[in-house]
Amino acid sequence: MSKLWGGRFTKTTNELVDQLTASISFDKKLANEDIQGSIAHVQMLAEQGIITEDEADQIKEGLLRVKEKYDQGVLIFSEADEDIHMNIEKFLIEEIGSVGGKLHTGRSRNDQVATDMHLYLKNHTETVIELLENVQKAIVSQAEAHVYTMIPGYTHLQRAQPVSFAHHLLAYFWMIERDKERFQDSLKRVDVCPLGAGAMAGTTFPIDRERTAELLGFSSVYPNSMDAVSDRDFILEFLSASSILMMHISRLSEELVIWSSEEFNFIELDDSFCTGSSIMPQKKNPDVPELLRAKTGRVYGDLVGLLTVLKGLPLAYNKDMQEDKEGMFDTVETVEGSLSLLAPLLSTMNVNTDTMKKAVTSDYSNATDLADYLVKKGMAFRDAHAVTGQVVLEAIQKGSVLLELDLADYKEHSELFEADVFEAIAPENVVGRRNSQGGTAFKQVEHQLELAKEKLKK
Ligand code: ARG
Repeated sequence: MSKLWGGRFTKTTNELVDQLTASISFDKKLANEDIQGSIAHVQMLAEQGIITEDEADQIKEGLLRVKEKYDQGVLIFSEADEDIHMNIEKFLIEEIGSVGGKLHTGRSRNDQVATDMHLYLKNHTETVIELLENVQKAIVSQAEAHVYTMIPGYTHLQRAQPVSFAHHLLAYFWMIERDKERFQDSLKRVDVCPLGAGAMAGTTFPIDRERTAELLGFSSVYPNSMDAVSDRDFILEFLSASSILMMHISRLSEELVIWSSEEFNFIELDDSFCTGSSIMPQKKNPDVPELLRAKTGRVYGDLVGLLTVLKGLPLAYNKDMQEDKEGMFDTVETVEGSLSLLAPLLSTMNVNTDTMKKAVTSDYSNATDLADYLVKKGMAFRDAHAVTGQVVLEAIQKGSVLLELDLADYKEHSELFEADVFEAIAPENVVGRRNSQGGTAFKQVEHQLELAKEKLKK
């Protein structure tokens, strides 16, 4: 079969070369964007008098017929035609004859593919932002129900200080808010049109780049044709924002796995989001958060892969850049899939408030407050820390917790202890008193919830 670029060749391409250079097996995903870009291009060509209105109409109609066949799944792509751009051009010429050959006037596959990628990512970045909001809504709905539910807060995965469960959950709301901002910010750079840069130096035809950009819904055009065809920063930004997001998802997933273990038993994931074991009948496995945690790895891989492909490339377009696609598609699918699952996973999760309550009343996470109590009675914090350490040690040796010791036990360590010590270290007071801005006090958490909900209104 003859190549669109076959004119200067005397031999047919080696089959292995076709296999290596073809990208159609994956870039067929860009069919819609490619057709959309071509329709805008021919319209501009006609408006500028570079082709006639009639030719443009025939080409547009032909492209729409190709799109219809693509949507019906009846197009048979050919590896010999390398990529989506040449496959579609071939189909177009088959549909409408040689006038189809005018489509590529004043254009190169280099600005064409960059345009397709911009269109694709703009679309998907918007989808990701919506999906992030769904996860935030799920977090807010659980947080609203659990402002007054307390769990141990951890450092070093050792119980540290009790917190409102809503406070713990909302920490993830703010991480995702920053993720959202990163994607929103990256849209500024995705929203720029490379079309009209030609192969790399621009074109001799009197094209109107602002017009094609407008037709495609882009806010501006690249000011430099060489940069336009060799820039892949916008993809790297998507991959980096996705990597940071997946890191957050992975940390949350890890907590879900831990919390749903029998040892913690803080939550139970809904049956519809868990799987069983082929041998152990009692098992209910948290496969979903485990896989979300694991999928972080492939997104990091996609980022590092593309950074490595681009490193050291001279200007302008190089075939290396064709390797930008699979990682990008993979990350888009991984992130969209992960977020689509995370939202219902969170909103259907059952919170075991009894176990949480037992946890905060049977541990030493109120020890800081015992030390603070002594400080408020006049002792220096360092001394209070030491005295409290002694009290904790005694309690551990007796097999009890701080709330279970007698006032007499306390008095042995310091005369400053009075009957009000028990109120001071009751978990609801320990949490309720951490009223500094952004702290876990119930009042602060209520306020934080309002801030979170305001973010979702915008
Ligand atoms: N399939 C190519 C890619 O994705 C399209 C651009 C090819 N340009 C070229 N001059 N070979 O990068």
